[in-house]
Amino acid sequence: MLVFGTRPEAIKMALLVKEFQKQPERIQTIVCVTGQHREMLDQVLKIFDIEPDYDLNIMKQEQDLYDLTTRILTSIRNVLKEVSPDVVLVHGDTTTSTASALAAFYQRIPVGHVEAGLRSCDIYNPWPEEMNRLLTGRLATYHFSPTLLGRDNLLREGIPDSQIWVTGNTVIDALYWVINKIKKERGLDDRLAEKLKHAGYNTGRLEDRRKMVLITGHRRENFGKRFIHICRAIKTLTEKYPGVDFVYPMHLNPNVCEPIHEVFGKDLHGLGNIFFIEPQEYLSFVYLMEKSTIVLTDSGGIQEEAPGLGKPVLVMRDTTERPEALDAGIVKLVGTNYNKIVNEVSILIDDAVVYEKMSRAVNPYGDGMACGRIVNVLLNRL
Ligand code: UD1
Ligand code: UDP
Repeated sequence: MLVFGTRPEAIKMALLVKEFQKQPERIQTIVCVTGQHREMLDQVLKIFDIEPDYDLNIMKQEQDLYDLTTRILTSIRNVLKEVSPDVVLVHGDTTTSTASALAAFYQRIPVGHVEAGLRSCDIYNPWPEEMNRLLTGRLATYHFSPTLLGRDNLLREGIPDSQIWVTGNTVIDALYWVINKIKKERGLDDRLAEKLKHAGYNTGRLEDRRKMVLITGHRRENFGKRFIHICRAIKTLTEKYPGVDFVYPMHLNPNVCEPIHEVFGKDLHGLGNIFFIEPQEYLSFVYLMEKSTIVLTDSGGIQEEAPGLGKPVLVMRDTTERPEALDAGIVKLVGTNYNKIVNEVSILIDDAVVYEKMSRAVNPYGDGMACGRIVNVLLNRL
């Protein structure tokens, strides 16, 4: 049984579901979604054509961590009892993954942790994700780590080597799948451009070599003042560089939209060179990422994908549990300080040499074959 509930988990688990489904004579694949996200989860299920067997549908507007944890725990109980799977696979560091792993543990069902072993070593950064990932790791029997560094982190915490497999990150499988689809499907790029235009951003603007900064933000630890600093920095940049486009697909969390309205006003249309658009479904988002010049984000998944596309990433966080691309020089931590964000984006816009150095395509997180490896391990083990 695979359990997931948020947009990034769905993106990173979708091809794993497909990989299991290739072997119906050996494996019965059950998909249970918690619905921690609703619209943003459904966008991913649609793209990958996944029909969940169970949908706990637990999302509430402005849910807090207590609501989330308890609703997942109690609503998954009967599903686990009914299905009694041989293994429950969860992903990463969300509350869906930790609560589902705990629920499986209560019924003594072994847990497989996909994207195991990432550590920032600061339990408040990212919050609550660092602790979620630690707890899920303690509960798990099978640990699928994307990189060698993740494996080392787990070994240091006393997880036996025999329970860890370095597989690469399944997000690279998903990324390659999308890139390949866009390349192969005739007319798809035009359709995606059309969709984006309809959403409020015309990629045709980039034809005259206009630069574009792609922005996302949603971390809980940045809510409030830090988000205001981020928005003010973005506003300054839009005024400083009228010849550059800034595109911000907004996360649906109301805590993300509030500071944006506070800094940019109530009406987010017709603001010149900044475009606030709805969260994009995965195909359009990858298309947009491919077209971007710089990515400014606090997202985990985007830190893994953008380096593969050769896009410099400025991360609006103080720490990261994904240091591999940082070491490769493609990702830089800029925190949430107004001056730092303005300066670092300006350098990348103005200095071709620095830009060149940060835009080599590297893929420290995977080779696109992680899902196959995970399925093989479980077939051998179970
Ligand atoms: C969650 C995860 C975070 C992950 C992020 C990915 C936890 C604690 N947080 O954070 O680790 O990085 O997802 O995006 O597990 N909302 C909607 N529709 C949606 C999605 C969200 O309306 O499709 C709104 C709802 O008001 C919801 C709120 O966003 O209550 C927050 O969602 P939640 O999953 O609690 O937190 P995220 O910030 O999305
Ligand atoms: N993403 C998307 N549409 C968007 C923004 C992001 O499909 O409008 C994808 C992105 O490519 C990545 C994932 O969503 O695969 C990241 O999700 P998010 O930033 O919400 O969560 P995190 O990775 O930080 O947990």
